[in-house]
Amino acid sequence: MTSKLKGRDLASISDLSYAEIKEIYLLAAKLKKELKTGKNHKPYLKGKSIALVFEKPSNRTRVSFDVGIYQLGGHPVVLMPDEIQLGLRESVADVARTLSRFVDGIVVRTFAHKSVEELAKHASVPVINGLSDQEHPCQALADFFTILEKKRTFKGLKIAYVGDGNNVCYSLMLLAEQIGVKMSVATPKGYEPRALGAIQIVNDPREAVKDADVIYTDVWASMGQEKEAAEKKLKFKDFQVNAKLLSLAKKDALVMHCLPAHRDEEITDDVLEGKQSVVFDQAENRLHVQKAILVKLLS
Ligand code: CP
Ligand code: NVA
Repeated sequence: MTSKLKGRDLASISDLSYAEIKEIYLLAAKLKKELKTGKNHKPYLKGKSIALVFEKPSNRTRVSFDVGIYQLGGHPVVLMPDEIQLGLRESVADVARTLSRFVDGIVVRTFAHKSVEELAKHASVPVINGLSDQEHPCQALADFFTILEKKRTFKGLKIAYVGDGNNVCYSLMLLAEQIGVKMSVATPKGYEPRALGAIQIVNDPREAVKDADVIYTDVWASMGQEKEAAEKKLKFKDFQVNAKLLSLAKKDALVMHCLPAHRDEEITDDVLEGKQSVVFDQAENRLHVQKAILVKLLS
């Protein structure tokens, strides 16, 4: 397969053009259909090994990449936090150059976004960001794919993000800006994401969800912020996605969460389990979209 994406990194959503995102979505839809109808995939990753480097816990990212690589005929090499120890046991640059001699691609979940960039700079194989403190591009790509499946078009949509201005929020903002979807972000004062283009940032969740087609939330304390969790619980209490807030959005608004969720903190159990929730479709689409990303970058 020849694509302009071959050999490239995916450290940030800003590494992709809208045309390239559409190319990924087209292939993701094809791979999803093949899987659902029991049709064999072309073994795009046959003979290829991919390192999955985790410096933080994971369910969705770890399992969807591992299974996705297997389904494409490749071999995943999963490395958990006590194994590689990026920048601790050896420098990020040395890890990048060593892994490049063994594997055909690297997926990394780490703390500092700088580590992802450093890895990408020194690796001679594609590096994919599986979550950093600044971004979660694979999540955002799967989420917009889910929105497209449910709403059929991006035209005229408004996405509301309520909660912490974190990594997931910022990747969603970059993607909304890239695709041209209206987005409003509501966070408590002091927890706003970096300003970006036409994205509205407010401190009132009711303002953000007004006329929204999607309400998205994520945990208030991300991995690595465990010490701030108690303080954030107090500061974020008015930013809970509950039935009352949901009633202010459009009647058919989708409820989204990247998971894992802290029920009755950032989202109530009834809303997470409610009819408008698509959280497990989001989780499933991680598999299909990441498979498309792997094929485009590595094969
Ligand atoms: N949403 C997500 O990335 O989940 P994990 O942390 O379980 O991988
Ligand atoms: N913002 C969360 C997302 C987890 C998938 C975190 O970084 O922990």
